[in-house]
Amino acid sequence: MFVSLEDVVAGLHATGYVADSIVTTTVYLATKLHKPLLLEGPAGSGKTQLAFAVAEAAHTTVERLQCYEGINEEKAIGKFDEPLQRLCVELKAKSNGVDWESFQAALHGRQFFSAGPLLSALEYQKPCVLLIDELDKVDHAFEAMLLELLSVWTLTIPKLGTIHAKSIPFVVLTSNEERRIGDPLRRRSFYLRVEHPTAEREAEIVALTTPDSSREFHAGMAGIAKALRGWSLEKPPSVSEIIDLAQALKLMGTEQITAEMRDILLPLLAKTEADRRKLLLRDGFASLIFDAQQYGREALRANAA
Ligand SMILES: Nc1ncnc2c1ncn2[C@@H]1O[C@H](COP(=O)(O)OP(=O)(O)OP(=O)(O)O)[C@@H](O)[C@H]1O
Ligand SMILES: [Mg+2]
Repeated sequence: MFVSLEDVVAGLHATGYVADSIVTTTVYLATKLHKPLLLEGPAGSGKTQLAFAVAEAAHTTVERLQCYEGINEEKAIGKFDEPLQRLCVELKAKSNGVDWESFQAALHGRQFFSAGPLLSALEYQKPCVLLIDELDKVDHAFEAMLLELLSVWTLTIPKLGTIHAKSIPFVVLTSNEERRIGDPLRRRSFYLRVEHPTAEREAEIVALTTPDSSREFHAGMAGIAKALRGWSLEKPPSVSEIIDLAQALKLMGTEQITAEMRDILLPLLAKTEADRRKLLLRDGFASLIFDAQQYGREALRANAA
């Protein structure tokens, strides 16, 4: 996928994904050693985006399996296309001299099987990125099925047989830690903890989405993010929510958050009733803005250095 570490660094940078050297090195090693990458961390911290950025950097496709409670193997691997099989049987029945035995075998061939993301990922000539997103939503049985795939890169499907990978995909597993991912899967993977970014890094990310704004504004947004995350909110803001806030301020024609803007900005800053109440506390918002300005100045200084 990548010829060198520099290739990963330059590729990710070109996609607009802001990554530190730990992320780029781990991605490089995982792609080289065919190890899945397990990404764990809070919502909106860039886990899913990293998989897309790696695929874009490697000029390949993402096969995405979005996990949910109750997901089954049919959804992940695929199933026989029964309407197509039926149609074919009806057409064959009209012709003479059908060899039903070989026809039955043909009906269970690959052309009658509609592939889910796991099977599709094995069929690429050039490795793709297989994103198994929000793996913490699935049960143990499903996890065990994945283990087999990730160990031997084959899938055994009843009636269809064993499918061997044409190329080994780069597997990215993400989790928000609602359920603990089992140890066997952890052992096979490289593990990256994706936390909220530092203020300097967050300013860089905001700058990518609002490039026409000033550096002070980008640092200011990172400052408000850091201040809000220090407030023990029920739902501290994610990177994506800070990007939303920056874009909203641009639409409102301002680069500054003042204490008077509290009520108008609450729907963007507080996403639960408890958090709303916290931000409505007397003088609370003003002191938040004060902290944010301080953090913003620090981020600006750090990025200038
Ligand atoms: N390091 C980063 N570089 C560039 N953009 C980022 C970065 N981290 C987060 N973002 C931005 O934040 C958005 C949300 O990230 P993403 O959807 O990947 O989060 P997630 O960790 O998968 O969250 P969830 O657990 O809710 O699915 C991205 O679309 C991107 O715009
Ligand atoms: Mg995600």
